[in-house]
Amino acid sequence: MIYLNGEFMPLSEAKVSVMDRGFLFGDGVYEVIPVYSKRPFRPAEHLKRLQTSLDGIRLANPHSEAEWMTLIDRIVADADSPDHQVYLQVTRGVDEKRNHAFPKLIRPTVFMMSEPLLPPPPELCRQGITAVSATDNRWLRCDLKSISLLANCLLRQLAVEAGCAETLLFRDGFLSEGAASNIFVVKNSVLLAPAKTHLMLPGITYDVILELARAHGLPYEVRDVMESEVRSACELWMTSSTKEVLPIVSLDGRPVGVGVNAGQPGPVFAQMFAWYQEFKKSVMRRG
Ligand code: PDD
Repeated sequence: MIYLNGEFMPLSEAKVSVMDRGFLFGDGVYEVIPVYSKRPFRPAEHLKRLQTSLDGIRLANPHSEAEWMTLIDRIVADADSPDHQVYLQVTRGVDEKRNHAFPKLIRPTVFMMSEPLLPPPPELCRQGITAVSATDNRWLRCDLKSISLLANCLLRQLAVEAGCAETLLFRDGFLSEGAASNIFVVKNSVLLAPAKTHLMLPGITYDVILELARAHGLPYEVRDVMESEVRSACELWMTSSTKEVLPIVSLDGRPVGVGVNAGQPGPVFAQMFAWYQEFKKSVMRRG
């Protein structure tokens, strides 16, 4: 069952007008909420980020937090598997004409569905993933989770066509994030995280990683990270709600890291991976 504008229905029955501004202009925002053992992870934080995105595009929130929670609970209850991801999207709705300016009467389109959530295969966590880099040519509000993802799609496709998993984005000599993930750097046993600005999405998984670092006494710095620091990193990781945390072992064809272990997941990743799995078991699955 999916949810569309007040009704639950099979996906095959869901229809949206071609005059929807999401379709015509990419005029909308979204969220992806991971669900473990039927428990949505940090739904309140996801709904807060949704509110920030809605405020950023000047669209009134069609639901209160309590209403959203009820809808999420229903989608979760209906889903076949205990682990899945709730996708939700709000667009500025349907207009009579194609017109850049906002319609006079706004009836947002609200869509929610559940999709499977599979943890990354163990060999990926053991062997790591490869990445390429590109200039971050997106707009200047990357903190908003906008459905206008054309730039992200083009950037991710660069990785796919190079046989890689992710594209790291640099803007003016600094790391912003991945095409669909946040990026962490380990340098001399210190974890470096780009500071949350309008140039990156404030990831919920990013928060978890820093909380785990704090809880376990791993030194970390939240600050601007230079491209040169990424290129000379001991370790690189990518994080997202769907990929958890994964080690990047090569960037633009060059192994990440130094010495004999270059090109392999590093020791700090191994620790963080273990902490993350423990956190998933003891917190995410318990709610
Ligand atoms: N994307 N940065 C970008 C550009 C992203 O698209 C995502 C996640 C993240 C990580 O955010 P979080 O930890 O809250 O998932 C960072 C989702 C999963 C997607 O678009 O499917």
